Amino acid sequence: MSVLQTGVDPNSADFAAHRAAMLEKLTELDTEQAKAVAGGGPKYVERHRKRGKMLPRERIELLLDPDTPFLELSTLAAWGTDYPVGAGMVTGIGRISGTECLITANDPTVRGGASNPWTLKKALRCHQIALENRLPLVNLVESGGADLPSQKEIFIPGGALFRDLTRLSAAGIPTLSVVFGNSTAGGAYVPGMSDHVVMIDERSKVFLGGPPLVKMATGEESDDESLGGARMHARVSGLADHFAVDEADALHRARQIVARLEWRKQGPGTSADVVEPPKYDEEELLGIVPADLRQPFDPREVIARVVDGSDFDEVKPLYGPSLVTGWARIHGYPVGILANAQGVLFSQEAQKATQFIQWANQRDIPLLFLHNTTGYMVGKEYEQGGIIKHGAMMINAVSNSRVPHLSVLVGASYGAGHYGMCGRAYDPRFLFAWPSAKSAVMGPQQLAGVLSLVARAAAVSRGQAYDEEADAGLRAMVEQQIESESLPMFLSGRLYDDGVIDPRDTRTVLGLCLSAVHSAPIQGARGGYGVFRM
Ligand code: COA
Repeated sequence: MSVLQTGVDPNSADFAAHRAAMLEKLTELDTEQAKAVAGGGPKYVERHRKRGKMLPRERIELLLDPDTPFLELSTLAAWGTDYPVGAGMVTGIGRISGTECLITANDPTVRGGASNPWTLKKALRCHQIALENRLPLVNLVESGGADLPSQKEIFIPGGALFRDLTRLSAAGIPTLSVVFGNSTAGGAYVPGMSDHVVMIDERSKVFLGGPPLVKMATGEESDDESLGGARMHARVSGLADHFAVDEADALHRARQIVARLEWRKQGPGTSADVVEPPKYDEEELLGIVPADLRQPFDPREVIARVVDGSDFDEVKPLYGPSLVTGWARIHGYPVGILANAQGVLFSQEAQKATQFIQWANQRDIPLLFLHNTTGYMVGKEYEQGGIIKHGAMMINAVSNSRVPHLSVLVGASYGAGHYGMCGRAYDPRFLFAWPSAKSAVMGPQQLAGVLSLVARAAAVSRGQAYDEEADAGLRAMVEQQIESESLPMFLSGRLYDDGVIDPRDTRTVLGLCLSAVHSAPIQGARGGYGVFRM
């Protein structure tokens, strides 16, 4: 056992200040998440209830095993855009009849459950998660199809929705649709492409064209039921495999279908018989990260409050000390952890990361990246010392590593450091951010400063005087813009993470992710890296 010691003093002024700043950010986060939960607002929610229907989160609750967690994903999708927060869809991972599944549920109170560009991104992200982690996919469908005013953004890329469903099925990953209401036009292919379909009497409406469209196209008189009702699809077309009498019955049938999949996880699972909680209080995670990310903090203090028994076997602690690497377990699942310490990544850190990633691949152990980096070091000494080569080495290793990666943005995640630490483009299986995180090409002041220097040099080369007053105004404006674009809610709105989490939930969230990851086999890369530039 190598139990971490702590230097955190919960009674110190610093701790209190960090905690207060974090709590303030959590309050803001709650406010924004509440918008997603409120769906289309009281008017549409009330109308929906009057129709005797359940809200998407209620449907999910009834679908899941009682008293089991639901790891909601991308709750803030579309934040900061013209579309409603949450993008009219609820997605996440939960346990149905003992099987972890990926669940999507349209929110019919939000513009009739229609899919806008962010809904599409959210759904496609779910498909990726289901495929990579081998999770059965359950769709709770009630949607007006494409959000018509934004059709240009979704019609062409939206074909991927149906393509993915059949590719999941082809990969042996079951797909299931429960149709609670409208699923028309393109939306009809959601049940159409699913392995198993449940429809509800007098509720499900699944047709390529509704009565008005049919009348226009062929002159035929028809009605909803004969074109696409549950009775018709269960008895005549055969599109419905299960005929349910109401919503509760439909969800019960979905649970039975999942039970009959006899799904077996293919990962090795946990490697500890007894799971010990961390030795230090998770509550203290609120007081570790300073509001000003220029102040360093020790990531071991975070690790100590996340891993089993606070037991962390650090490797190469004396080499490249600005990156902490070591082995631990979370809820019994083994992990290799890479955590930034002093912010900057130097050549040693990059080489150490590369070696560590290779170790994890040889042992088939998932990797956890805890981000707090301002990027790779710049300057003559470092360029001459080969910082590009070494950063490239780390990016090569992270790109070609085959073990599952989990990333948590705890503090800064700037520049190519974001890439080396397995940022979004490097396909971590899951990526979450703390409210304290910030991510951008570089810090706002640096970026504004660089722009100003470039503009100044351009003015000099043109022989013009430089307008200092305009420069100061521009710098302030750019700084503000970059700052707001680097904040977690903005990034989460664009689906650059899978959610912003309360630091106190980190261990639980990672445990749920690791459990999901172990649904698929875990096999590291034995070779197959790009050419390492030495
Ligand atoms: N695109 C954009 N907005 C849509 C929409 C869509 N596909 N479907 C519904 N909306 C909007 C409605 O205009 C309405 O807005 P408003 O309240 O500001 O006037 C709101 O969502 C609720 O729609 P409403 O028709 O009142 O809800 P409903 O629950 O009674 O019916 C539908 C829902 C989906 C059955 C119905 O809206 C519908 O048939 N929509 C069009 C479906 C379609 O043909 N889609 C084409 C897909 S390719």
